[in-house]
Amino acid sequence: MFEPKIYIKRRDFLKKQMPSGLVLFLGNDESPMNYTANAYHFRQDSSFLYFFGLDTPGLAAVIDLDEKKDVVFGDDFEIEDVIWMGYLPTVQDRASEVGVKQTGPLKALGPMLKEAQEKGRAIHFLPPYRPENILKLQALLGIRPEEVKAKASPALIKAVVAQRSLKSDEEVAEIEKALKTTYKMYVTAMSMALPGIWEKDIAGRIDGLAIAGGGVVAFPTILSRDGQFLHNHSHKNRLKKGDLLVVDAGAQTPLGYAADITRTIPIGGKFTPAQKDIYEIVLKAQETAIKAIKPGVRYRDIHLQTARVIASGLKAVGLMKGDVEEAVLQGAHALFFPHGLGHMLGLDVHDMEDIGEGFVGYDEGIQRSSQFGLAYLRMAKELRAGHVMTVEPGIYFIPVLIDKWQKEGKFADFIAYERLARYRGFGGIRIEDDVLVTRDGRRVLGKPIPKTPKRIEEAVIG
Ligand code: GLY
Ligand code: MN
Ligand code: MN
Repeated sequence: MFEPKIYIKRRDFLKKQMPSGLVLFLGNDESPMNYTANAYHFRQDSSFLYFFGLDTPGLAAVIDLDEKKDVVFGDDFEIEDVIWMGYLPTVQDRASEVGVKQTGPLKALGPMLKEAQEKGRAIHFLPPYRPENILKLQALLGIRPEEVKAKASPALIKAVVAQRSLKSDEEVAEIEKALKTTYKMYVTAMSMALPGIWEKDIAGRIDGLAIAGGGVVAFPTILSRDGQFLHNHSHKNRLKKGDLLVVDAGAQTPLGYAADITRTIPIGGKFTPAQKDIYEIVLKAQETAIKAIKPGVRYRDIHLQTARVIASGLKAVGLMKGDVEEAVLQGAHALFFPHGLGHMLGLDVHDMEDIGEGFVGYDEGIQRSSQFGLAYLRMAKELRAGHVMTVEPGIYFIPVLIDKWQKEGKFADFIAYERLARYRGFGGIRIEDDVLVTRDGRRVLGKPIPKTPKRIEEAVIG
């Protein structure tokens, strides 16, 4: 974990942003895979990690905004726990490592909250996403499970989003640590991208590298020649020369910070001319987007600028037609680029999505569009120095979507349907990097991972 003073500073800052009352943070519990003792890899709640840093199940914490005190609640391990899982310091000792002096057993949490409720004090909490925490909030606060999310505190949501959105130097350094491991994952994937190999062989190796880096994968690895499916988690195919392999993966550091990278790799190490044409469009779109990043610019405007690069590139290769501005305005490009340009990155790969995408990526100044494609844009609002963004445009040939739109005659003025037939088995191309918004522009984080066709081809062939 970080130094105690970092957690103290974070909590003190939050206290200044909030009105009166108590702030309740519930940590996560173990989550069973198929029976209680056989749990998934434990992942602490990210806001709990951010303010309290303690990475074990069964904890909760309260910040008393009026008395300016922090309390961590948890039960010390019994001898039986130690026999099975090894020694763990007491809750008090661990709390002191994050600058919290006061601790109590879990059974003391309920009475503290009850007393506050009886005095009419506000109890602020974030929207829960795990069923057990919804039930805990019901037991602790008497709120019906179906109403718990709606009763989350807007003041706390806004304060936490504002605070966690601006990454400190030590957080950026953590993301770069995640990227260091992710670099190894990618050069390994590229070196393995030869005909005859199975997707699962590469996926197994790169996931292993995330573990060897001291953490785990930040999200389930996407690694497939069926790159036209945006978040395809199957690794069932044997790869052959000429396949395009989309790899969207990232490591998570032991402190919980994520990397999120995508590269598209030609199996056998040579892009075909048609693949290269499309690749160059995506690359140009991604580089244009990165160059446009600076404080004060709306990410939606950069998304739309990227969409125009994609549409004009597709027009140049004969797959789109007509006026590019108009095509993008109407959303015709979304046949090929149906998702958003990117999202915030931090302790979560889609940072703070649990708290509410509407608060993270949108504000009073910008509403979510309902247009297909643009509606999926996770981040639309103005960029600020300290934001860490993913930049991840793509071009995909999704046969079911092409067929549907063609049948409906949708955007027939902008899409050259007759020329799309030979792209049906093309797959997809996405390129993703992680970018820090700086005071005067941007910095692409991490050591550069091969990205131009030439560098990728070299990385495959060696
Ligand atoms: N890795 C998931 C995403 O790029 O959003
Ligand atoms: Mn990704
Ligand atoms: Mn991403």
